[in-house]
Amino acid sequence: MTPGLFISFEGIDGAGKSTHIAGLAEAFKGQGRTVTLTREPGGTPLAEKLRAMVLGDAMDPLTESLLVFAARRDHLLTVIEPALARGDVVLCDRFTDATFAYQGGGRGFDLQTLATLERWVQATPAMRGESIRQPDLTVWFDLPAETAAARLADARAPDRFEAQPVAFFRAVAAGYAARAEAEPRRFARINADQPRERVWAAIAAEFVQRGWLPAPAASGPSAT
Ligand code: TMP
Repeated sequence: MTPGLFISFEGIDGAGKSTHIAGLAEAFKGQGRTVTLTREPGGTPLAEKLRAMVLGDAMDPLTESLLVFAARRDHLLTVIEPALARGDVVLCDRFTDATFAYQGGGRGFDLQTLATLERWVQATPAMRGESIRQPDLTVWFDLPAETAAARLADARAPDRFEAQPVAFFRAVAAGYAARAEAEPRRFARINADQPRERVWAAIAAEFVQRGWLPAPAASGPSAT
């Protein structure tokens, strides 16, 4: 059986992940793969309730961190692990790097506590105590906080994170950069500050290079 593939997508709000995630889902389906498209916080009925709280209700950074990790545990056990066991391609819009970037970087919350929660939550039965579940690849949409803020200016009513000032997003971006530096093999940094077709070409190249998609798959959202 083809082994499952776990890919997460990260970046500050306004980085433009959505179209490309959809494009990758189509590209993998075109290869006959079954795709599980999901997101964090969320992806299960329980985790979506927790998402509504995290995005809507005022709370301290520890509460926020516990809620996103609680949502992640439910999501991992009931959606991500079963999908990987079936051999699906799991495309997950945000995962734990977002917690290190937003709660750690943005909110300034203790990184050691986050690392402890990461070890607890991602030690799923499927990992048999050998390691913790991590994405096979994390596609990081990197762009300046100022550019992202300009893109979000006309967006829908902002949630608790989108409403933050540019300085918050600079700290979030620094949080992502630190995670990418610590685990360079897991991260693919994409320059998201360029036209959509070029962003897509950069992403497609990462997947082709790993042998996960054939070269012509680099049609995609640019064609829409
Ligand atoms: P989204 O708008 O990309 O769906 O993400 C929801 C928001 O939640 C986004 O602003 C980032 C934030 N978030 C955290 O603060 N911590 C986390 O662990 C995750 C997954 C998301």
